[in-house]
Amino acid sequence: MRRPRSVRDAEVAGRTVLVRSDLNVPLESGEVADDMRIRASLPTLRLLLDEGAAELRVCSHLGRPKTDEDRAQYAMAPVGRRLSELLPDQRIRVLENTRFNPGETRNDETFARELATGCDLYVNDAFGSAHRAHASTEAVAHLLPAYAGLLLLAELEHLGKLLGEVERPFVLISGGAKVDDKLGVLQNLGGRADTVLIGGKMAEQIRVENPLGFAVELPSDVVGAAAFEEGSAAGVYPFDGLPDGWLGLDIGPETRRRFARAIAGARTIFWNGPMGVFEWARFAEGTKAVAEAVAGNERAFSVVGGADSVRALNELGLAEKLSWVSTGGGASLELLEGKELPGVAAIPSAVESAA
Ligand code: 3PG
Ligand code: MG
Repeated sequence: MRRPRSVRDAEVAGRTVLVRSDLNVPLESGEVADDMRIRASLPTLRLLLDEGAAELRVCSHLGRPKTDEDRAQYAMAPVGRRLSELLPDQRIRVLENTRFNPGETRNDETFARELATGCDLYVNDAFGSAHRAHASTEAVAHLLPAYAGLLLLAELEHLGKLLGEVERPFVLISGGAKVDDKLGVLQNLGGRADTVLIGGKMAEQIRVENPLGFAVELPSDVVGAAAFEEGSAAGVYPFDGLPDGWLGLDIGPETRRRFARAIAGARTIFWNGPMGVFEWARFAEGTKAVAEAVAGNERAFSVVGGADSVRALNELGLAEKLSWVSTGGGASLELLEGKELPGVAAIPSAVESAA
């Protein structure tokens, strides 16, 4: 994998730096509900401050604002407040939501010039947005000397290990609802794994017809529900034996044990996507069992990507037990599919800068 040049190699003393972070965090009642991405952005900001940067202009998108009402809802102010609590420094300025400018998602050069004006260099640390070719992640990198931030580099390094030689057995666990988004990753990575465990909606689709070129392990039992409702009538059924019209909303106890055994014997693990509707406690046991099994295997190199799986681990207080928890959902998937991410491609490579 091509390595972009590092912010560590930039001359920053006395300079004004445009930093693109991924501060796209969940908000609740106008406050930051989960600050993992803000915290993950701090090391690069600290490094730049320690190196004597004169000013940091930190920019990010927040949500997917479309209407004027959205603009009020997705203003950066709460994010800026949280950032200044975590890293109080007069030299940091948080710019307004980049997506308030329609040029952002069009990768428009005029908006990129606006961002670049008055800045001496550009540092992209927004791994979670690196799969987007937007003005603040792509176009602007061609207007200023561009460098990769520490988080972006760490994500590439850790996720990149899954693309190279891995210790075996390599167990891949996949679930979640966005089946089509994930089939590409499975095609690319699944053939290299020794065991592929599949739960969630993905399992249903693969049972009907497996479009992958290799065998996968599907659930043997499921928690079925009469309707897609938190309080619905529910029970454990064989995977093939759900009553007519019922829905499988979690993997069953026998499957949990089987998946946990496979995970316990792994030396490399990648997990993306919950095993069921984990937001509802009655259908969260399968995801919990997988989270515990992954966290419990301390000998394995274990990586989780994707907002839902990460949230499940955070809620269980287990995130720290993994080797790497990716701040990227779509970005980590696209990387593992073998795609080059536009936000990374726009930064000169480490080799070129050394030459
Ligand atoms: C994410 O949360 O996946 C990233 O911040 C990218 O957001 P987007 O999917 O709205 O481009
Ligand atoms: Mg996304």
